[in-house]
Amino acid sequence: MIAATVGSAVGLGAVWRFPNEVQQGGGAAFLLVYIVCLLLLGIPVMLAEFSLGRAVGSDAIGDYRHFTPRAPWWLTGTASVLATFLIMGFYMVVAGWTLEYLWQSITGALYDTGASGATPEDSSYFTSKLTENLTSVWSPIIWTVVVLAVNMLILSGGVQKGIERLSNLLMPLLFLLLVVLMCVTLTLPDASRGITFFLKPDFSAITPAVCISALGQAFFSLSLGMGILLTYSAYYPKNVGLTSTAFTVTGCALLVSLLMGLIIFPAVKSFGLDQDASGLQGTALVFVTLPEVFARMGFTRLWSTIFFALLAIAAITSTVSSSEVCIKCAQDRLGLSRSRAIWLVFAPLFILSPLCSLSLGSGASWLQIGGQNLFDFCDNFSTNYLLPLAALFTCLYVGWAAPSTLLSTQLDAHPGTKKGLWVTVLRNLLRYFCPLLIIAIFVFKLL
Ligand code: PHE
Repeated sequence: MIAATVGSAVGLGAVWRFPNEVQQGGGAAFLLVYIVCLLLLGIPVMLAEFSLGRAVGSDAIGDYRHFTPRAPWWLTGTASVLATFLIMGFYMVVAGWTLEYLWQSITGALYDTGASGATPEDSSYFTSKLTENLTSVWSPIIWTVVVLAVNMLILSGGVQKGIERLSNLLMPLLFLLLVVLMCVTLTLPDASRGITFFLKPDFSAITPAVCISALGQAFFSLSLGMGILLTYSAYYPKNVGLTSTAFTVTGCALLVSLLMGLIIFPAVKSFGLDQDASGLQGTALVFVTLPEVFARMGFTRLWSTIFFALLAIAAITSTVSSSEVCIKCAQDRLGLSRSRAIWLVFAPLFILSPLCSLSLGSGASWLQIGGQNLFDFCDNFSTNYLLPLAALFTCLYVGWAAPSTLLSTQLDAHPGTKKGLWVTVLRNLLRYFCPLLIIAIFVFKLL
């Protein structure tokens, strides 16, 4: 159970999104706020979701209706489902890139001398590959459609359990591979500049925008506010310790993020990749930096193939679990059969995801909302606004609206014991501290 939760939480959020956010958020300053958000908000909100999910055992909307059928708390669940849907819109595209890079690693196309005569030794080789791969019209769309189809097959074939088991086996392998890559990048010339950037905070870089991004990233990489953990915990047996699970999931997400930082930033500084002006690297640092690293290692294609295969599996376990949230909701709320619910969720994604992909290319500049391309809009709006909003109301719901015995029963706590004290602390965190902190971050941004 815990392994499956870790598998669903650790995905592209820690591997792909985290380095981009650190790069844009000024390095260690972002990391610091991110860790604070994980500990002070991530763990309490996760425990709130776990307790609510296991106690009620309905879908993301039904869980919020259970204790207060007349009050509009269910809107929280609606925000979660909307956020999950928008996140899937662009996440499927990134999962498509991992498949494209996997394919190009297998065929060797990623490391071939290009038609223009450019070779992997040229400094901007992988950046131009990235631009070519991500902004061309058809190939990213085709790979996105492949990801959508694979998801539908897994979800309708009832082989989710098998995929989960596969991912439980392969996740430790991904982790080991990251450790190997870190050993390689830490020995690159100039690696120390990258480590300083990643680990030595410049406190003046902590701006409201950085706090909001760090908050969003914390929720994103723990899958909070998406209804995922809520839905998952409904299947937890009584004897699963929720607190230790929350710490394990958070610890794994943080560890993978830290490893990624220690891999990417030494490489970025060493290869001078932060000078790049294509603008795409903010979106896809991993897809440029890691091929550069693989190209310098022996057995380039083998390492590259293993890495992108593991990443694709990590991405697909996350998309399958998030699709499940929307599908379960459509089944429970609208009374649809499973196959109809799957179509109801996926048919709009077959439109949204290709549009997200197209919006990154220069030919589709009309695909913009509020000055951002559709891809970035789906990401920023859902991650930085909808997820914190859903988390805020989850805290209030579990803290105030749900019966006060909910937490103590779920966390198996009795008054006067250590667990009893923890539940009291947690209840107060959920009632006052977490909501105020989330609101404060937004007010800080408005000022
Ligand atoms: N925590 C997940 C990740 O990092 C978040 C997520 C799950 C995003 C499912 C999309 C879909 O990848």
